[in-house]
Amino acid sequence: MEVRKVGVVGLGAMGAGIAQLCVEAGAETVGLEVSSELAEQARDRIAHFLTRKVEKGTLAESERDAALARLTLVGGPEELGDSDFVIEAIVEELEPKRELFAELDRITRPEAVLATNTSALSVTEIAAATERPERVVGMHFFNPAPLMPLVEIVRAELTGDDAFEAAYAFGERLGKTPIRCHDTPGFVVNRVLIPLLNDCIRVLDEARVTPEDLDTGLRNGAGWPMGPCTLVDLVGIDVHVHASEALYEKTREPRMAPPPRLVAMCNAGLLGRKSGRGFYDYGD
Ligand SMILES: NC(=O)c1ccc[n+]([C@@H]2O[C@H](COP(=O)([O-])OP(=O)(O)OC[C@H]3O[C@@H](n4cnc5c(N)ncnc54)[C@H](O)[C@@H]3O)[C@@H](O)[C@H]2O)c1
Repeated sequence: MEVRKVGVVGLGAMGAGIAQLCVEAGAETVGLEVSSELAEQARDRIAHFLTRKVEKGTLAESERDAALARLTLVGGPEELGDSDFVIEAIVEELEPKRELFAELDRITRPEAVLATNTSALSVTEIAAATERPERVVGMHFFNPAPLMPLVEIVRAELTGDDAFEAAYAFGERLGKTPIRCHDTPGFVVNRVLIPLLNDCIRVLDEARVTPEDLDTGLRNGAGWPMGPCTLVDLVGIDVHVHASEALYEKTREPRMAPPPRLVAMCNAGLLGRKSGRGFYDYGD
């Protein structure tokens, strides 16, 4: 299946990055936000990142201009009607996603693939809001989307082979490394990483090790490129707590539940790098 025109719905942290990947890969890209101000802000961020690539010498100025020219901002979902492929990256809530998919189902061509970037919701439940669950698939990018190589291609209960493989191929075209998996809580990476990071945080208290020493331990004893406390600070303690709660709600496995220490840090506004303080002090 040839993907010429892509719709990206929600141009926040993830959607803007995904739209950037699409325009860089040569696809005509139609971006939709809740307001034209937010859409323009996303376009500015994309332009900023592409200009940084020009400054670093990894992108020609003419390529940047051509990529930006492939991005069109629209005012409503009806303008996504002729997209071959739509990627949804709106708020992580089931009802708004289901409403959007029902609408996309009504307005797009029957053969168009509808993909969701959800991290923790069921792709199957989102697909069930449409009359064509066989054309709905999960495409779980990692943050920041332009830099993180992985995309998980998620097969929901009724996803057809054709849409599944089209999403895999489109992930490759975007320069990503796709992996295939089924629609289970946390998919692959978060299913492994979230309880593992929670265990690491519990060990801080159990073994009375410092965050510095825990990080040194995992880097030097397990070959991790980055220690767990540094990683949670980078992800954002609020984001990690939210993801842990979502997984715990679905699996009821105690290891998924956020450790009380993290919840307390979150409540105190110690969110990691973005707030200037988490396990480490970033002094800004
Ligand atoms: N942030 C991450 O680390 C990360 C990683 C992987 C996947 N995700 C998933 O990606 C999705 C988006 O996350 P985010 O971090 O980019 O959130 P975000 O809040 O930065 O962006 C969401 C954007 O969607 C817009 N939006 C909301 N409803 C809309 C609608 N009906 N139509 C058009 N736009 C709408 C909002 O205005 C906002 O700009 C979520 O499902 C999230 O779980 C996030």
